[in-house]
Amino acid sequence: MAERVEIFEMAPRDGLQNEKRAIALADKIALVDCLSRAGFHRIEVGSFVSPKWVPQMADSAAVFAGIARKPGISYAALTPNMKGYEAAKAAGADEVAIFASASEGFSRANLNCSISESLDRFAPIMEAAKLDNVKVRGYVSVVTDCPFDGKTPPENVAKVVASLRDMGCYEISLGDTIGQGTPESVTAMLRAVLDEAPADQLAGHFHDTSGRALDNIEASLALGLRVFDAAVGGLGGCPYAPGAAGNVATEAVNARLVALGYETGLDAGVLKEAAALARKMKGQGDV
Ligand code: HMG
Ligand code: MG
Repeated sequence: MAERVEIFEMAPRDGLQNEKRAIALADKIALVDCLSRAGFHRIEVGSFVSPKWVPQMADSAAVFAGIARKPGISYAALTPNMKGYEAAKAAGADEVAIFASASEGFSRANLNCSISESLDRFAPIMEAAKLDNVKVRGYVSVVTDCPFDGKTPPENVAKVVASLRDMGCYEISLGDTIGQGTPESVTAMLRAVLDEAPADQLAGHFHDTSGRALDNIEASLALGLRVFDAAVGGLGGCPYAPGAAGNVATEAVNARLVALGYETGLDAGVLKEAAALARKMKGQGDV
């Protein structure tokens, strides 16, 4: 039997968070409902962050309330602090994610605090989630390159991964936030990170700014990673990372994985439908 690789779908959150124009709540719900038919086990639906910082995610609770949940799918949300965690819990998020940075410059831009302060803010989330039996995923951003601090030393990534591991994150997603990683820099980063966490607790999160995301996924596969984040239609970008273009497109990752002989469990026809919906929401038409 073919080996399984999982794609964690990001379009409703990472795909739309950077969008300036208003997107109707009904369209966001329709996108998640379409994605729920594609075969994903995990879909990131929204984030409970400051609406002043990321206005597009301000209606995440309403999105959670409006979707038709399918059994077996974990509907996830980003939570930067306890206020976000409480809101995600009230909205019925099945799992939450805390998000840290491997560079001080990006931490300040994205969370308005240092890396160490961000970890302090995450600690009560971990405690509450444990009591509530809610799984917590961790992200580390700018794992190869930072728009503010330049190249990220691999050992800095490994250090933050170790902290998130010690705090109890069940999986840690490694973000090439501005899509500047190369197979070489991704491999060097992963070698350092694998000293702190096994491959089956890691995921790759590649933005496709430079068109190298699929190559970086292959480099990650070679080191044992079997979970990748992606967004249908290649939507995405981080509002606090200048130059961050879309996430790698789910349909392209799926096609590459299938061509490499992996099984993803995804329906390519539904992915195409979802990608068209996603692009329409971004005003890119049915291309
Ligand atoms: P701050 O301004 O330092 O926070 O922002 P504060 O505690 O001083 O609060 C300021 C205001 O925000 C207050 O409201 C709070 O109540 C409110 P006011 O009194 O002014 O009316 N507030 C909140 N409101 C709703 N939900 C909350 C919340 N927290 C505070 N949870 C803060 C600090 C962390 C809140 C802010 O910096 C923030 O929201 N940052 C989030 C930025 C973000 O969402 N970035 C994108 C996601 S990360 C990403 O895309 C990377 C990833 O994809 C991986 C990769 O690609 O690398 C995951
Ligand atoms: Mg991202």
